[in-house]
Amino acid sequence: MDDNAGREPAQSEVDSSEPLVRVIDLTVRFGGVVAVSDVSVDFHSGQICGLIGPNGAGKTTLFDTISGIRPPTQGSIRYDGIDMRRKSVTWRSRHGMRRTFQRHQTFGWLSVEDNVLAALEWRGGGGGLLADMVRFPSRTRIESSRRRRVAEILELCSIADLAKVSAARLPLGKARLVEMARAIVDHPRVLLLDEPTSGLEESEVESFAESVRMIRKEEACTVVVIEHDVGFVMRLADRVVVLNLGTIVADGLPAEVRNNKTVAEAYFGSKTQS
Ligand SMILES: Nc1ncnc2c1ncn2[C@@H]1O[C@H](COP(=O)(O)OP(=O)(O)OP(=O)(O)O)[C@@H](O)[C@H]1O
Ligand SMILES: [Mg+2]
Repeated sequence: MDDNAGREPAQSEVDSSEPLVRVIDLTVRFGGVVAVSDVSVDFHSGQICGLIGPNGAGKTTLFDTISGIRPPTQGSIRYDGIDMRRKSVTWRSRHGMRRTFQRHQTFGWLSVEDNVLAALEWRGGGGGLLADMVRFPSRTRIESSRRRRVAEILELCSIADLAKVSAARLPLGKARLVEMARAIVDHPRVLLLDEPTSGLEESEVESFAESVRMIRKEEACTVVVIEHDVGFVMRLADRVVVLNLGTIVADGLPAEVRNNKTVAEAYFGSKTQS
């Protein structure tokens, strides 16, 4: 895999008329288990898409493949008109593809503020080692502007009061919000959220939904949310895709999906729990 972050893609690689993320005829196998089976689906800029389905439907595997953690067995992913086959996880992340994990991942030894700041550090401070040693004014300006951005995002995620608290001391719900803050601080173009509300208190779920709506509005980014809380998805999403046994069984407006007989029988009739 290459890692050409910052390199402008050659014009021949790009088709800007495409949806931002295209999953094309994707199959992912684990030995004899077909986790994702010949799935094709598009995700568009500025859209919040809910991805639902029973346990083992293939939702996380689809995210793993889009974000580059897991290579496809067959098929491909296109992002912003570019074939992702040879693009690393780092390349994807540095080009605006961000995700959170089903099991949250924070740096326990860092404060909440520094956890979020760390997501901006890959950009460097400019000026190299010398700037580090003598603290160039430009370096100080960059750091202040990053801290301002972090403060803004902590506010947006309703965790500003926890800025100085060590991440290891947070309850699960708050740690999830830190992960979300880290995913959105660097102006994502695609945000893949894997069960972001699990562990959140009921009161936190609505404020979380508001943060997602705000970030979509501010960044015009594509948001895909995997969720088991179907009511939450129906309220939040512009569109809902339903996976079952590795294949898409419905794709449409929340109301259409809710009224889809096959989905209702196979899924809503017996709402799954993680
Ligand atoms: N690393 C792995 N090795 C073997 N099988 C796997 C692996 N990861 C996932 N699977 C299998 O692939 C299928 C899809 O799993 P996946 O985790 O993508 O489902 P999911 O829809 O995210 O489920 P859940 O709602 O429980 O998180 C399941 O049958 C699962 O057991
Ligand atoms: Mg999963």
